[in-house]
Amino acid sequence: MMRYDEAGRYSGAAASDPADVGDGRRDQGRPGTAPPVFDRDFQAGLLDLFRWRRDVRRFLADPLPPECLERLVEIACLAPSVGLSQPWRFVGVETPEARSAIRAIFEECNADALLDQDEERAASYARLKLEGLKEAPCQFALFCDDATSRGHGLGRRTMPETASYSSVLALHTLWLAARAEGLGLGWLSILDPARVVRALGVPADWTFIGYFCLGRPAEADEVPALERAGWERRIDPAAVLIRR
Ligand SMILES: Cc1cc2nc3c(=O)[nH]c(=O)nc-3n(C[C@H](O)[C@H](O)[C@H](O)COP(=O)(O)O)c2cc1C
Repeated sequence: MMRYDEAGRYSGAAASDPADVGDGRRDQGRPGTAPPVFDRDFQAGLLDLFRWRRDVRRFLADPLPPECLERLVEIACLAPSVGLSQPWRFVGVETPEARSAIRAIFEECNADALLDQDEERAASYARLKLEGLKEAPCQFALFCDDATSRGHGLGRRTMPETASYSSVLALHTLWLAARAEGLGLGWLSILDPARVVRALGVPADWTFIGYFCLGRPAEADEVPALERAGWERRIDPAAVLIRR
């Protein structure tokens, strides 16, 4: 386990930490040790992780170990953040009441979204599975505390939205870490942010980033589910690199 003091400073690992290799030595990847070498095998594995990450909406019902979310959040906290503001706030959604409140918000928002679809897309939209709210054993919401004084405003004066960007980076870090451990994550944004804030009883000035379902995936695929369903295709990466 990583340890932090009250001021948020890294204070080393607990004695029982598996990273302890005995006789006071630590394995790689800890402050104060030589940086690891990311060799070609690692790079190839990392590329596989990016390719096979997937947004997951079909989960097995197996429960996850109770400390799973806590550990993934620790990893998420390694993400970059503007001014080191670390504005991400993860809210585990565990009670049946809280989960059914989220499901009710989704049902309403999704019905509205269906009404917004063009006639020729509506039937296809209605067939999409856009969440795993009933099955996912672990669920959490992510918010951004825009008012945090951490980081003393560095980088945020002209671009306050960088606090939200930082929170998304933490989520993406968690997403990849989860996939590396054989877990799947699904992002749900078909929700009314103000209603989610009220349903979960978090401060009204936190920005809702998204709602997430986590669990063992029921399927694995190299192709996004929306592409498999014929909804949208991935673009040619050459088209997104513009030079001036
Ligand atoms: C900001 C954000 C919001 C998303 N919201 C939803 C959602 O509400 N429902 C859903 O099924 N997928 C949602 N997704 C997942 C995307 O549809 C998915 O990432 C995309 O189709 C590419 O698939 P992949 O993640 O498997 O590569 C969201 C993804 C992002 C990044």
